[in-house]
Formats: sequence, C-alpha cells, structure tokens
Amino acid sequence: MPTRHSSLPTHRSSAPAQSSWDRKHLLALEGLSASDITSLLNLAQEYREVAVARAPRLSLLAHRTIANLFFESSTRTRCSFTLAARRLGADTLDISSAGSSISKGETILDTALNLQAMGVHALVLRSSASGAAVMLANAVSVPVINAGDGKHEHPTQGLLDLLTLRQHFGGRGREGDLRGKTIGIVGDAGNSRVARSNIHGLTTLGANVILVGPPTLVPKSFEKIVSASEGGPGKVSVTHDLDDVLPRVDALIMLRVQFERIDDGPSPIPSDYRQLYGLSALRASQLPDHAIIMHPGPMNRGLEIDSEVADDPERSAILQQVANGVAVRMAVLATLLKPSSPV
Ligand code: NCD
Repeated sequence: MPTRHSSLPTHRSSAPAQSSWDRKHLLALEGLSASDITSLLNLAQEYREVAVARAPRLSLLAHRTIANLFFESSTRTRCSFTLAARRLGADTLDISSAGSSISKGETILDTALNLQAMGVHALVLRSSASGAAVMLANAVSVPVINAGDGKHEHPTQGLLDLLTLRQHFGGRGREGDLRGKTIGIVGDAGNSRVARSNIHGLTTLGANVILVGPPTLVPKSFEKIVSASEGGPGKVSVTHDLDDVLPRVDALIMLRVQFERIDDGPSPIPSDYRQLYGLSALRASQLPDHAIIMHPGPMNRGLEIDSEVADDPERSAILQQVANGVAVRMAVLATLLKPSSPV
C-alpha cells in the first residue's frame, strides 16, 4: 500500500531543495534535531515514486560511486541502498566478508581506505560491531552511512519507520504529525539497534514510546535511554504487559527475537514468549481501529508475529516500510553527496 505522491523532485541535476542538513555522515539518530530529521523525511517523500520505479531514475549522483560494505547478513537494507544509489544515477560496489580480503583478516578500516583510494565517494557500512561506523567516519574523508552497527543504531531503518508513521498519521501523501502519538515497540529491544534508533527519532519528533517485553530483554532502565537533557519532547516508558498496552497505542512496531545476538548461557527468552508477547490475530483485534502494525524484517513468523497479522492488508504496513526504505536511503545519499561538492 505505498502512498502515491504527485510531486516528483524537480532538481534532477541540482542540490536537494530545502535541506538544513550540514553533517558529513549519518551515524545515528541520537543527536539529530527535529529539523534534521524532517528535512530527510520531506526529501524521501519527494523521491517516493522514483524509489519504487514508478518514475524514471534520476541523474543527481551520476559519476559518483557508492560502496556498500555489508559484513553481516542483510536483504532489505542492502538491496535498498543499492537500488537507492542506482535510482539516483550513481554506480555501486557491493562488498561482503565472503569473497573480499576481510576473509583473509584485512580490517574494515584498511578495506575502506583502499576503496577510498580508488575514488569511492561514500561508504555504507553494516557491521556486527557497535561503533564501527563511528570508527570509520573518524578515519576516512568520504561520507559514512551506518547501515546497522551491532546493538547500537540503525538510523535509516529509524527514518523509514518515521516516514511510514508520518504517512499513516497524515493520510495519503500529506505530512503526518507524530506529536503526542503513542508507539509501542514490542520484543527484543535489548538486542535491537532498530529500537534504539526508533526511540531517538520518535521522541525527537514528539511521539511517546512504550517499550514492551520481558524484563530480561526490556529492563526498566531503558526508560533512561533518552536523557532528560535531550531535546526530544517525547517520553519513553517500559512495561512487561503487552495486553495492557494494546488499546492505547497508535502503532505497534514488533521486533525480531535476535537469536544470533544472544550469548551462551541461560536464555533471556522466556519459554512462553509467544504466549506473552507474540502478536496474534486475537491480540491485534484489541488495538484501536486506526493503529498500524510494523516490523523491520526479517520476521520470525509464529513467534513474535503471526502470519495472519503480518499479511493483513488493512493493518500491516510492513511492505510499505520496505518501499519507504529505498526512498529514505535516496534522501540520505542525495543529502550527504551534495552535487555541488567536487566529484
Ligand atoms: C534489522 C537489523 O538488521 O537490524 N533488519 C533490517 O535491517 N531490516 C532488524 C533485525 O534484523 O531484526
């Protein structure tokens, strides 16, 4: 159910319009202002038709090369960065551990410096190490985009979730307002970079976040992820009771149980996880009529979400999120690789 949008970008060979953005990298949503975030979302909305190939590709980033360094598995994020770059006219390089010198022990930094020496204009990095994108950004001279670093942040996923929510609350094609909305984030928040980016983005735009999950995955201390000194007007609260929260949310973001991030030893996942936190059709029927259901993918169907809910054409925004992912990544690339800067 992608939102149709009539106005296409007019700046086929000029800088993106109305951007207040003055940062070199996109490493996290923490620390971005509401206007930083809004300028990216507005541009992504303009790119919506090109992003899903309903309008011809642009030439904004012609003669630029973007390297995707994906050292952790990915389908959506990786493909959408590649499509976003190509739909802006850029060339792409796709690098993973298998088949590159990373498998011979070369460091991420050496790999990046070599690509930079070959004239790559931006680096998109996914790594299992929290802080890897910051480390790279401190060492290279080209823009770095964090495509997910360990349990830290996944800023473009946060942006595409914000865009999806904004489209929903604003109706088709209009700007939505997240102020005062209540968004439930359910599941394995402790291991989730998606949750962290969403918390920062949502509260900065004025939404309140309720984190829901077992105490082993969602401890009470998560209420302090956003400190009182931060600018965001939204609040974060933690609860362990999903059924209590359902009637009060405007949207639910279900998180994957990230088995690969769980250390050896006693499992933090209760054996009755599905009964307590799985989103069944019965549970979904307790949501307000207007509430939507989201999931960043990949899904554990039958664990955190049932197929009946994930595939519900009325309620599920999961594929709309995916489509928005291309638009958001186009907006980020266009903004960081301003055509006025030397090729
Ligand atoms: C997320 C990730 O990799 O952090 N997926 C994604 O990027 N679409 C969430 C997850 O893997 O559960």
